Amino acid sequence: TANRRYTVAVIPGDGIGKEVVPEGIRVLERAGQLHGFTLDQQWHDFASCDYYLQHGVMMPPDWKARIGAPDAIFFGAVGWPETVPDHVSLWGSLIQWRREYDQYVNLRPARLMPGVPSPLAGRGPGSIDMWIVRENTEGEYSSIGGRMFAGTEREIVIQETVMTRHGVDRVLRYAFDLARSREAKHLTSATKSNGISITMPFWDERVETMAGDYPDVRVDKYHIDILTAQFVMNPDRFDVVVASNLFGDILSDLGPACTGTIGVAPSANINPERTSPSLFEPVHGSAPDIAGRGIANPVGQIWSGAMMLDHVGEHEAAASILRAIETVLAEPRLRTPDLKGTASTVDCGKAIAQALG
Ligand code: NAI
Ligand code: MG
Repeated sequence: TANRRYTVAVIPGDGIGKEVVPEGIRVLERAGQLHGFTLDQQWHDFASCDYYLQHGVMMPPDWKARIGAPDAIFFGAVGWPETVPDHVSLWGSLIQWRREYDQYVNLRPARLMPGVPSPLAGRGPGSIDMWIVRENTEGEYSSIGGRMFAGTEREIVIQETVMTRHGVDRVLRYAFDLARSREAKHLTSATKSNGISITMPFWDERVETMAGDYPDVRVDKYHIDILTAQFVMNPDRFDVVVASNLFGDILSDLGPACTGTIGVAPSANINPERTSPSLFEPVHGSAPDIAGRGIANPVGQIWSGAMMLDHVGEHEAAASILRAIETVLAEPRLRTPDLKGTASTVDCGKAIAQALG
């Protein structure tokens, strides 16, 4: 048979990562059976605080060789602050991957699902459905700058924003392509060119230039201050939103927050050229407060799996997972306790796998 195969590095990490990753895999495997593909899984125990306590490092020195060149990385969450400080666990794993694999697009959907109450009044399922594309490698988060005369009256602190044509264009191209693939074909650019008078006008210029290559995409821009207000007042206006590193950081928390619980939100760190693997993970962390009790919501992890399938080209299977999630969330008894249900992590994962068909 013409069975398509994908290699996936599976890294559960810490806390509820170990509980939700198996449910993500359960659903992916079922989707594979139904849609004719196989995942060759390579599970890794590093990038976890247990590994750190045994080995004194979050990852082995040859982690890159051990991960190899999979089609994607399917990650849970990292962090156990009781035993390992968060900056150690995060910088020793996720942040290294993002850099070493040049995952310059951070992608998050914000979509209102059935059974998930929105903090915004009067918004029902389907009324918010957008993607936030954040530049993930440069911009405001640079290490260029310094501090002089520390602790004196003359103290000077400078941190420079870095925008390169290469870096801006590549994330814009990704966002334009994504907008083109959507029904609404609408791209919103986050800017602040009225106040940040050098880098942001440059960002706007690059948006305008690239818009010439995409006559079928409707483009608009908002200054970041009014854009955050519009996310809350008129979230239905937006389809694909592209932003610099800092603005994208803010919008990619605000968007999903407008659509309810952190337990269902997925995300991706993408290297679109596929010169290195992309990483798919839920937005939430390791949730030490509920870890080990089998009550974590697996939907964020499962939805991340759907994004991973989209990335490798299994679009039908990805769409079917989204539909299965919606079917299950519409059923109160199949929801986990964070959504006022009584289902366990495993119950919810099995229900989604079953809803695939
Ligand atoms: P968190 O996302 O782990 O938890 C925040 C709150 O949301 C907790 O009350 C938790 O019980 C709840 N929650 C999170 N995911 C849930 C789910 N799937 N189902 C039901 N409830 C859920 O964030 P927190 O507590 O700030 O961080 C805990 C650890 O996770 C820290 O070590 C932190 O550094 C790490 N972290 C790791 C991330 C990653 O791996 N990408 C992202 C965020 C935090
Ligand atoms: Mg953030």
